[in-house]
Amino acid sequence: MEGETLPLQEQRCCDDGLSQTNESLIPDLYDFLRIDVELEPVGNDREENACSKNVMRKQRNWERRVEANKSKRKEEKQRKKLNSRNKDINGTQLSKRVMKAITKERLEDAREAGLVLCVDLSMTDHMSHKEISRLAGQIRRLYGSNKKALQPFHIFLTELKRDSLLYKECVRMNDGFLNYLIDVTDETWFHLFPSEDVIYLTPDASKALERVDEDKVYILGGLVDESIQKKISYKRAKELGVRTMRLPIDEYMVKKSNPKNFYSKILAINQVFEILLAFCETKDWTTALASGIPPGKGYVVTSLMSSEVGQ
Ligand SMILES: C[S@@+](CC[C@H](N)C(=O)[O-])C[C@H]1O[C@@H](n2cnc3c(N)ncnc32)[C@H](O)[C@@H]1O
Repeated sequence: MEGETLPLQEQRCCDDGLSQTNESLIPDLYDFLRIDVELEPVGNDREENACSKNVMRKQRNWERRVEANKSKRKEEKQRKKLNSRNKDINGTQLSKRVMKAITKERLEDAREAGLVLCVDLSMTDHMSHKEISRLAGQIRRLYGSNKKALQPFHIFLTELKRDSLLYKECVRMNDGFLNYLIDVTDETWFHLFPSEDVIYLTPDASKALERVDEDKVYILGGLVDESIQKKISYKRAKELGVRTMRLPIDEYMVKKSNPKNFYSKILAINQVFEILLAFCETKDWTTALASGIPPGKGYVVTSLMSSEVGQ
């Protein structure tokens, strides 16, 4: 058979067409290779897509796990802090009954001489039923934080009318609401406190809060912003001619890049209150803001940011 040329079909069959010398095969071979070359990137694209989706999914899972671990650690820290507070001077754990009595005494003292915080509930017309229920929940959390504080505030809920939906939601959703050690009134705060003592806290104020004073009354706008309505509390304060201030987020925090590119300095009333409590306890805005601003707001305290960069 040596020297003889095989018919085309047989040649292809024997050596897979790769070692043919027959020039007529070159276009076929070229076609064959081109098909391969064209198919390759499509396959690679798919693989790359699947691969990057996998990487993104893993990244998201990892971020979720980091967040979950962070909040677990925070809860654990708070639990330990609370346990250590619930001990007498000899380190003996106090019973629930004793703790309850101590809490009650602290709250009653606060009503005599504590720092004053008032939630202005005059703006419920701006809110949906769902937002009003959420506000009732935030009032419960705010009261819960005050109960845990070593130095609680004297809390006022103003313009809370007994026949309002908010009042009904507070009674329905908040165990023991009718026995809360706070002042509930349908009066406006404007008639209760001298306006020169009032500081209306609002995210839209230009001046930052520097300290929390005993002779001032701090007002929070009882608003839940699902359908964000800008500057409502700011406008109300301006109309009534009282001072406005915001939390010093710009002064102590910076934006941290996040996948959603979301940044907000608007907090719920219970979150603002927890920051005030933490500041009163530590006298340190960095600590208070770091513990009180949820990571989802997109801000991180400057010192944390620089330590992350330095790592
Ligand atoms: C959910 S916010 C309402 C925001 C709303 N758009 C407004 O008009 O104020 C509820 C209240 O929490 C307080 N608050 C929220 N974020 C604040 C911030 N960064 N500084 C000061 N007060 C804040 C304000 O009293 C505000 O009225």
